[in-house]
Amino acid sequence: MNENLPSTDPAPVGIVGTGYVGLVTGLALAELGHRVVCLDVDRAKVATLRAGQAPFHEPGVDDLLTRHAAGLTFTTDPTEVFGPCPVVFVTVDTPPGPSGDADLSRVEAVVAAIPAGTELVMVMKSTVPAGTGRRITRHLRATGRHGVRYVSNPEFLREGSAVHDVLHPERVVLGADDPAAAEAVAALWAPLGAPVVQCDVASAEMVKLAANAFLATKISFVNEIANVCDAVGADVATVARGMGLDSRIGAAFLNPGIGYGGSCFPKDVAALKQLAGNSGYHFQLLSAVIEVNELQKRRIVVHLANRLGQLQGARIALLGLAFKPGTDDLREASSLVLAARLAAEGATLVVHDPVVGDHVLDLLPPGTAKVARAADALVGADAAIVVTEWPEYLDLVRPDLAGAMARPLLVDGRNLIDPEAAATAGFEWVGVGRPDCLPDAVDRQLDLDLDDTAAPAPVAGS
Ligand SMILES: NC(=O)c1ccc[n+]([C@@H]2O[C@H](COP(=O)([O-])OP(=O)(O)OC[C@H]3O[C@@H](n4cnc5c(N)ncnc54)[C@H](O)[C@@H]3O)[C@@H](O)[C@H]2O)c1
Repeated sequence: MNENLPSTDPAPVGIVGTGYVGLVTGLALAELGHRVVCLDVDRAKVATLRAGQAPFHEPGVDDLLTRHAAGLTFTTDPTEVFGPCPVVFVTVDTPPGPSGDADLSRVEAVVAAIPAGTELVMVMKSTVPAGTGRRITRHLRATGRHGVRYVSNPEFLREGSAVHDVLHPERVVLGADDPAAAEAVAALWAPLGAPVVQCDVASAEMVKLAANAFLATKISFVNEIANVCDAVGADVATVARGMGLDSRIGAAFLNPGIGYGGSCFPKDVAALKQLAGNSGYHFQLLSAVIEVNELQKRRIVVHLANRLGQLQGARIALLGLAFKPGTDDLREASSLVLAARLAAEGATLVVHDPVVGDHVLDLLPPGTAKVARAADALVGADAAIVVTEWPEYLDLVRPDLAGAMARPLLVDGRNLIDPEAAATAGFEWVGVGRPDCLPDAVDRQLDLDLDDTAAPAPVAGS
């Protein structure tokens, strides 16, 4: 516990759902000096946490779990939260349902578990469609649970830097009809010094959906720009830099790649599109954002087929499986779509990820091999694709590894690697929206050939 902090209410704060958001929120509150009780329905997860271990890979979590062990309780018993905790954060998952709408069954289960007569502030951190808070409040009143006050406090953390993000938020959004309830939550986060956006519940819910939809739009936009760059021979890295220096645009989220994934963007964009549709509004822009993202994942398969002639029998190395670096989360990861498409074309796959466990093989096509060292994935491969921009893949840019491949074709799906460095090491480098870079030896041979024939200089790129 941090001795410099003012003494806090001795009552513990409750967390319902100890996933990425719930556990990190609980750890942040512990860091701020609170006792925290974390409830989950997943017994195995609770047992892991009780043993002091993180149930997933997230930098900083292990350390905080150890440091605050005395102030943290992990339980499957709702009576340890509903009653003893005056403020309870709801951080359960809200996955996409079959219609694309958010599946709120876990949230509804939590509401159902609150006993009559309980006094608490229920803080919704799960991402829910706008209007959910109003419906829950109405339901709580209709079922006589007048002691439950509702606050929407959406979460903006990014997996891979979740601990940092929760402890250094750029804003705290609080939506509530009851100012005292909002104040109770604001007081918990006040030591972090972030600007507070205090508003009604529906607006707070919309902030989260709109923010994620905008970020996804930015990604799909720059992916389309990259595809045009490919067609006209421009370099998207320069284009993005030139755009990003404009303060009205900003440089963040202007890195093209093979599509966004993860547990948030795909589902939140779909949920906002459906929410709009359910209210009679056709959110056309989001339909395009989603379609561009899906096509972007598949585009690389076509590129590969064009280069290799055919994918049937080709050995393809996938470098990175998690939807982004710094996490082992595979939800909606582009790697899974790519693997399925490549296998459908007859390729055999060898995959690597520095943190994703072997359980991923259940999600990958039969016959996929998983290697522990990234370098081993390259041996004998006809092509390697950088799917997740893990920094350690920069170390693969070595002549001996280019030489170990059947064909040193390096398809950089995240524009991670410096093309010149790759070419110098002997790789045929292909990025997203950037001119291709041939190995130095090939370039030199081309120059010699051209000197011989006095033909016009070739343009690097496709
Ligand atoms: N993961 C992110 O990067 C992120 C960022 C911002 C917001 N969010 C939102 O936060 C919410 C949680 O996301 P997450 O990634 O932490 O999910 P998660 O799947 O990692 O964790 C959810 C946890 O809730 C538990 N749970 C489900 N039903 C329960 C119940 N009735 N009672 C107690 N526990 C229950 C599950 O067992 C699981 O441990 C989602 O709405 C998500 O959209 C996620």
